[in-house]
Amino acid sequence: MKKAVSKPLQRFSGQLLLVGAGKMGSAMLEGWLARGLKPKQVVVIEPQPDRALKALARRGLKVNPKGKRAAVTAVVIAVKPQTAPDAVPPVSAYVGKSTLVLSIMAGRTIRFLENALPAGTAVVRAMPNTPAAIARGISVAVANTNVSPRQRKQAGELLAAIGKVEWVTDESLMDAVTALSGSGPAYAFLLAEAMTKAGVAAGLPPGLAATLARETVAGSGELMGRSDLDAATLRQNVTSPGGTTAAALEVLMGPGGFDELLTQAIAAATRRSRALAG
Ligand SMILES: NC(=O)c1ccc[n+]([C@@H]2O[C@H](COP(=O)([O-])OP(=O)(O)OC[C@H]3O[C@@H](n4cnc5c(N)ncnc54)[C@H](OP(=O)(O)O)[C@@H]3O)[C@@H](O)[C@H]2O)c1
Repeated sequence: MKKAVSKPLQRFSGQLLLVGAGKMGSAMLEGWLARGLKPKQVVVIEPQPDRALKALARRGLKVNPKGKRAAVTAVVIAVKPQTAPDAVPPVSAYVGKSTLVLSIMAGRTIRFLENALPAGTAVVRAMPNTPAAIARGISVAVANTNVSPRQRKQAGELLAAIGKVEWVTDESLMDAVTALSGSGPAYAFLLAEAMTKAGVAAGLPPGLAATLARETVAGSGELMGRSDLDAATLRQNVTSPGGTTAAALEVLMGPGGFDELLTQAIAAATRRSRALAG
């Protein structure tokens, strides 16, 4: 029997404002509509509306509306962090006493948002990652003290449209989150690249090596996503003592191997995130 699609956003009442309908904003919008939000409940501010947005405008979604602004239930800010000083202050016109503001901008802190918005605004800062494009992302969210339990649930439902959601209470963890899950997809893609090069070095034709590396990384990711076992157990399950995998893991897990390199890489990304934050 086909599993019914859950539509938690059917319960969303009032209007939602999306600021920035680029890659992330569009992926979120698509997810919200699939989860029961109606186009007529959505207002989008986007300098270059694409064809999909124009089609939604014919179904009642408002794009770049002119005239008087009224408070909305929730605002989602999905512009590039460098655009924030221009894009965030005008959002204030849509913020009322019970408006939730959810930002997915990398590195833009809760304090930055609070300074740009009316005093007392409920703010959630979240860090998603690229698999959001296929609703397989993971976002980590942190709320300011003005966020009510109902708004927190609402923020969770909005983020669930692009994947899983974890919450933290300490905003300073967002730099390490950015370094692990935000930048993490690049590490997985690099793994496929490196496996391709290593396969070629071992004598495989480049095309075959690339296909094998890509499908191995993608398939293993999917297997891990569907399994209840942790990563270490899955690894042990495919490693026979004295076998080929064990020979490779001896190198990868040895001195200067994966663990050390990734610890250094994630520490470097965490430092960079801290330096860029504002
Ligand atoms: N992509 C990721 O994997 C990822 C991961 C984690 C977090 N994020 C965060 O998500 C946010 C969006 O990233 P993205 O990849 O979706 O970027 P993007 O594709 O560049 O989308 C940003 C959109 O905002 C529009 N915009 C620019 N100025 C605006 C303004 N003043 N008002 C309203 N809209 C405006 C841009 O239009 P123009 O193109 O015309 O400028 C663009 O369509 C970023 O802050 C990023 O840090 C992204």
